[in-house]
Amino acid sequence: MSKFYLTTAIDYVNNRPHLGTAYEKVAADVIARYQRLCGVPTRFVMGNDEHSQNVYQRAQELGIEPLAFCDRMEAEFRDVWQRLDISFDDFIRTTQPRHREAVTRLVSRIAEAGDLYEGDYEGWYCVSCESFKPEKDLVDGRCPIHQREPEWLKEKNHFFRLSRYRKPLLDHYAANPHFLEPEIRRNEILRLLEAGVEDISMSRAGQLWGIPLPANPASVVYVWADALINYASAVGYGTDEELFERWWPADLHVIGKDITRFHCVVWPAMLMSAGVPLPRQVFGHGWVHWKGQKMSKSLGTAVDPLEAAERLGPDPLRLYLTREIAFGQDGDFTWDRFEERYNVDLANNLGNLVSRLASMARRYRQGRLVSPAAPPGPLAEAAAAAVADYRRAMDAFALHRGVAAAFDVVDRANEFITASEPWVLARDPERAADLDRCLYDVGEAVRIAALLLTPFMPGSCREVLRRVGETRDAGALQLDRDAVWAAPPGAERTVQAGDALWPRIEPGKPAPGGAAAPKRTDPATRLSPTLVRDSGAGRAARAAVPDEEQSVPTRERSAVTREGRESMSEDERPGRAAEAPPATEPAAAEAKPAPAPPEAGTARISFDEFMKVDLRVGRVVQAEAVPKSKKLLRLEIEADGVRQVIAGLARAYSPEALVGRHVVFVANLEPARLMGLESNGMVLAAVDANGEPVLLAVDDPARASAGARVR
Ligand code: MSP
Repeated sequence: MSKFYLTTAIDYVNNRPHLGTAYEKVAADVIARYQRLCGVPTRFVMGNDEHSQNVYQRAQELGIEPLAFCDRMEAEFRDVWQRLDISFDDFIRTTQPRHREAVTRLVSRIAEAGDLYEGDYEGWYCVSCESFKPEKDLVDGRCPIHQREPEWLKEKNHFFRLSRYRKPLLDHYAANPHFLEPEIRRNEILRLLEAGVEDISMSRAGQLWGIPLPANPASVVYVWADALINYASAVGYGTDEELFERWWPADLHVIGKDITRFHCVVWPAMLMSAGVPLPRQVFGHGWVHWKGQKMSKSLGTAVDPLEAAERLGPDPLRLYLTREIAFGQDGDFTWDRFEERYNVDLANNLGNLVSRLASMARRYRQGRLVSPAAPPGPLAEAAAAAVADYRRAMDAFALHRGVAAAFDVVDRANEFITASEPWVLARDPERAADLDRCLYDVGEAVRIAALLLTPFMPGSCREVLRRVGETRDAGALQLDRDAVWAAPPGAERTVQAGDALWPRIEPGKPAPGGAAAPKRTDPATRLSPTLVRDSGAGRAARAAVPDEEQSVPTRERSAVTREGRESMSEDERPGRAAEAPPATEPAAAEAKPAPAPPEAGTARISFDEFMKVDLRVGRVVQAEAVPKSKKLLRLEIEADGVRQVIAGLARAYSPEALVGRHVVFVANLEPARLMGLESNGMVLAAVDANGEPVLLAVDDPARASAGARVR
């Protein structure tokens, strides 16, 4: 393919974008950026649909000219798209002269083909859909999408002979099995065509706001016919033949599933009638839901995309939308899930990998990594397989699978670090080449993962690439040439350290960096149903705990805890401390209420005695359950190197929730063995009323990073 012309639906401008409309733009942007990464000349067009009655009414309410209102809204839309890093090449507005020219030309061609005739329309019309509604499509007399009562219209209109194109459309679908994706949408449209289609109104009488119908300038072109033509006018139909030759037909229209009938029946029929080639493909994506309903301003279920982007950053939002929602299907947005995915994918996984690499590179090789003569390790093969999966997925617009393939590389690199134990290699000068191999390969894996993730998280990946020593501009990188393992002997990279890219957040609390917390109706709505029934005090206390840790409400949880304690294995019982001396027990191993503070003067220690305890900040780089133990977790904590600590945190923290987190621990305890594993230190935690551990947090890990002394 010599070019890729991609469009999204153009938005009604009576309201600002919400997360549902933004989702479409983000997904299309990922596709556009992927095409560019593949080296395909790409034109990505978005825009605004301005001739809607709602827009006109809104402007009237505000007492301003409709065009002035649209100008104002254009600025708002552009601002949102810019903040979400949407890389469109052109932005079309249906009030622009180039569009009016194109509409006039295309509708005239349809009239010349004998496909326009005058008639009477009488029936329902939903202003929110801007669509004529057959009685059978209404539910309890309302539009099922907007849940509002339609208006009854009776007017003289010009009709388009859509029925004439039923057979040519069916033939087109048969000859082009991928014309409409995903398959479920194609089947819907085929059923509709098979059942037969009626001619549709192509004009609206008595409207002032719109493009005059060439055959009868007293009416305007029906807003959907007007809007669909934007795809052609944006590349010069009727105004710039050369541009049109270069880019038409469109390679892909990305639209929501509610408007496939317009795009996959009406629009191709209009083009057939006007003698213009058809777009190659249409993708009808699913809806973003909020609490089980389509996200929509008119339904009152809209989330502000800027609020979400400001909460955790535009890239985490882009990642959430494309990873969490299978492209083509519906999916939910919840603040909890957004925060959880941020912590899991970014803070704990990719972000942690980037900082682990930077800190090991600095510690063991002063930041400079050199590929040794030995052949690359297993990561090279894993990355090649992931790149192939990624390409297959992205070529099929399975964006969620594409991003998952990229994260496979991240997972494999994290696993590889754990398996290769570079901190052990570093202690043995004879294994210097193994350490070089390990570090260089991890750097290479991070580079490839970041390259694959660039369409999803452009800004962050640029920074990740810079940190792993990529000196070329991210925009100049190409998938074919650069997503290839490149570790010839002697190759060098300089790894840059930096602040945590995605500091872990405590769900429900303001995000790091002072970003404003989202406005939420009630913290209770963010909890699982079992928790909402719980007492107010308990609710407030748990609002800061991630979902995965909230699966058992406190009351039940404490019951489980007591029960669990009674059924503790020999190894887990506090009495088992014979194996681990009291001083070396992991935090919260002693699961009983906190003892009363000693009376003043009775158990005081001297400053010198206190100073013997070496307290440090450590970052958890790896965490997993200790087999057969309900309470213990095996942690790898990075401070002055990486050490293993066995900690009694499992009842209150999942391993996943700990990775990437900064903790305070006693660094100079004698080693102890717990459940057969050596523990080198003790993580500090407070103990709650149920005897469960509550970890101490480090206020600013950027300033007190792993290894910092605590006094
Ligand atoms: N103006 C028409 C489209 C004309 S295209 C020639 C329109 N505008 S819209 O503002 O209502 O919607 C713009 C796009 O956002 C549509 O593709 C629509 O399906 C999509 N979405 C609107 N709400 C959405 C969700 N809740 N979730 C996902 N997409 C959503 O329709």
